[in-house]
Amino acid sequence: MEWYDQNKRDLPWRKNKNIYHVFLSEVMLQQTKVKAVIPYFNRWLNKYPTIESVALSNLEELLKLWEGLGYYSRCVNFYKSCIILYSKYNSDLPEEQNDFLALPGVGKYISAAVYSIARNVAIPAIDSNVIRVLSRILIIRNLTPYNKKRIYRTVNQFINETRPGDINQALMDLGSSICTPIKTECSICPISQFCKASKTLAPIRYPIKKPRRSKLLKHFIAGLIWNENSFLIVKRPINKMLGGLWEFPNIEVDINSADHMLLFKYIKNTFNIQISITNKITTINHSYSHFDISLTLYNSNILKSGIINTIDHCWIEPKDIDNYPFSKSNHKLFNILNTNGWNN
Ligand code: ADE
Repeated sequence: MEWYDQNKRDLPWRKNKNIYHVFLSEVMLQQTKVKAVIPYFNRWLNKYPTIESVALSNLEELLKLWEGLGYYSRCVNFYKSCIILYSKYNSDLPEEQNDFLALPGVGKYISAAVYSIARNVAIPAIDSNVIRVLSRILIIRNLTPYNKKRIYRTVNQFINETRPGDINQALMDLGSSICTPIKTECSICPISQFCKASKTLAPIRYPIKKPRRSKLLKHFIAGLIWNENSFLIVKRPINKMLGGLWEFPNIEVDINSADHMLLFKYIKNTFNIQISITNKITTINHSYSHFDISLTLYNSNILKSGIINTIDHCWIEPKDIDNYPFSKSNHKLFNILNTNGWNN
């Protein structure tokens, strides 16, 4: 603990143990690096200082603030959770941890982190950093369910009610500073005397890294569809990947049959709009956790007017982009259009 007191990272969510700050930080930190989270966390708190303010806002505005952070279902779930905390628990943590675990998007890790940090409940919060540190202490190569239980039991044995949140966070900090996936600095590690791997020639071998599976490449074609000065954007279904974000209308295609006629048919069948496709604008690539995409944008005009706006598709001008949350891949297209001209 001495090590943590002297070396702990100065992170904005560690300034106080406000349950809302801790909960928000843990949601943002899932799958995302500390450095990327800090500006998002600060901007969010500036605009939404309380659970109540989130509960009373609307999802589109929240997604706009989350734009670029990725894994957008975290934002949707956090919004739903804040509504429940506000309306049912007086914007406080439920007495029973099981009630907190029942909130959307809250799993064992987040619950343990929040209750240990904000409520001093002595439970291990095991994230990927902690798994790595403990695998080295216990000299574990394979992360079998049995070995994961050993890791949990080991942390559980030495966590106590005095500073459980700090113990959990100290292990996280060790894992992100001196016991990382690519380096081990055992000579300055405060717990190396307990670490079996540190006595081996290559502590870095623990645990075994899963071989990376090569990612699937998917191809999409999208339309920049002009009606005078406006173009069409559509909103992704809330329960799908990137749910609630807006984008150019698009379809997935087989690379061998990537034919813009498919785009024409899709637009006709979905929106009952006939378009004339003029030229290909650009292709961008983007990477998601489980697959990569290529996205080709075509320029087109509608042949007959008769446009309408609905809750999930609308016509906007380039200057309106900042009013809607878009995925990163669409921002890549916007950047190219902003540089080369929109040319409608
Ligand atoms: N990663 C997830 N939660 C964290 C925390 N509270 N401090 C540092 N890194 C983290």
